[in-house]
Amino acid sequence: MKHKLMIATLSCALCLPAFGQSKEEEKTFIKENMEFAVNQYHLMLQTPPQGKEGKGVMPHSMRKDGTVSKGSIYLWTSGFFPGSLWYLSDYTGNREMKDAALEYTQKMEPVKTFTDNHDIGFMMYCSYGNAKRFAPKAEYDDILIESAKSLCTRFSPVTGVIKSWNSWRSWNDETRFEYPVIIDNMMNLELLFAASRISGDESYKNVAVSHALKTSKYHIRKDGSFYHIAMYDPKTGDFIKGETSQGYSDNSAWSRGQGWAIYGFTVVYRETGDKRFLATAEKAADYYINHPNLPADKVAWWDFNAHQEGFTPGIRSNARKLTANYRDASAAALVASALFELSGYVKGKKSELYLETAKKILHSLGGEKYRAKLGENANFIIMHCTGAIPQNSEIDVPLTYADYYFIEALHRYNKLLNNEPLF
Ligand code: GLY
Repeated sequence: MKHKLMIATLSCALCLPAFGQSKEEEKTFIKENMEFAVNQYHLMLQTPPQGKEGKGVMPHSMRKDGTVSKGSIYLWTSGFFPGSLWYLSDYTGNREMKDAALEYTQKMEPVKTFTDNHDIGFMMYCSYGNAKRFAPKAEYDDILIESAKSLCTRFSPVTGVIKSWNSWRSWNDETRFEYPVIIDNMMNLELLFAASRISGDESYKNVAVSHALKTSKYHIRKDGSFYHIAMYDPKTGDFIKGETSQGYSDNSAWSRGQGWAIYGFTVVYRETGDKRFLATAEKAADYYINHPNLPADKVAWWDFNAHQEGFTPGIRSNARKLTANYRDASAAALVASALFELSGYVKGKKSELYLETAKKILHSLGGEKYRAKLGENANFIIMHCTGAIPQNSEIDVPLTYADYYFIEALHRYNKLLNNEPLF
């Protein structure tokens, strides 16, 4: 495939020193961060399960008292911890990480039949997708296919998109929408492409392409920002309107949503070679990179438009009460990971810009402002993430997915420095 060839030609841009650092210094930076992550996760692995019958097994975030909070395998973030362990094990060869990656991945198997919302792609592809990649076993194929089947139960040929949540009640009033699709859903499509590759059955891929096409039409605004939620009419498939759940206001640009768009459309371009998806990924990336409110360290505020004139949170949203502003390091981490890939699909100055931005983000996150000290931050790696301000939840805390995308970005950068294909 053409796009694979492009990835292989990145070496020129990578010959350029990053921030005055040589290629060897960059490799040392990656190694130090990976080794730190192993040590931090060694401590995380000593922490016991939580909750009723010990069902809280997957590190999720940090409680107010500074201890780790763990979720069940059915929480949307459950796949990230096993996924992080796979990347760490692959990079370092550390036996404890490998054994734990396997153990935590196997805990996820019952999720393969989960159909309550769209998150199964996050859950099963970050865990079993990485297991298949780094330590393949035949049984993983059936698990991934079954997971893809579960996700497809939420697809309607009338709307042409996968329904994210069963309904959504607007922050502004009592309106309840029956077919909400969130931009995060782009991240679930990688599972469907994998299922088609494994099974030879194109129907999973067709669902993914249909979802991505409709999302690229209705979810994006003219300036390259994205609605968090697009509402569709389940009877006609018509787009009704865009709103937000986790952003500042319905017309604002929630930074993690922007990240999901950059990453998701980059994946769909990788899988299809269809330039329309590349164009959407670029628009999404350019919005993030060129935004006047993006701080110099390239770690975005949780919403690009928080507290700005012309942006008003809904009457029930906790964002109305907010006076301080917060960064979202999880958004930056996932944008960095996506940009390492996207830089391989574009040429010249643009490729350099994407690459330099990804490197800048990694160096910011790996620096003392965002990277925790050993044994602190509830044994997570990255600090200063924002989960859901409108819900008054997870504000300025670690989040397992920030760690995952930080580690994935380091893993990708290392491959690029070694002139190895990313996939
Ligand atoms: N997918 C949920 C979130 O980004 O918070």
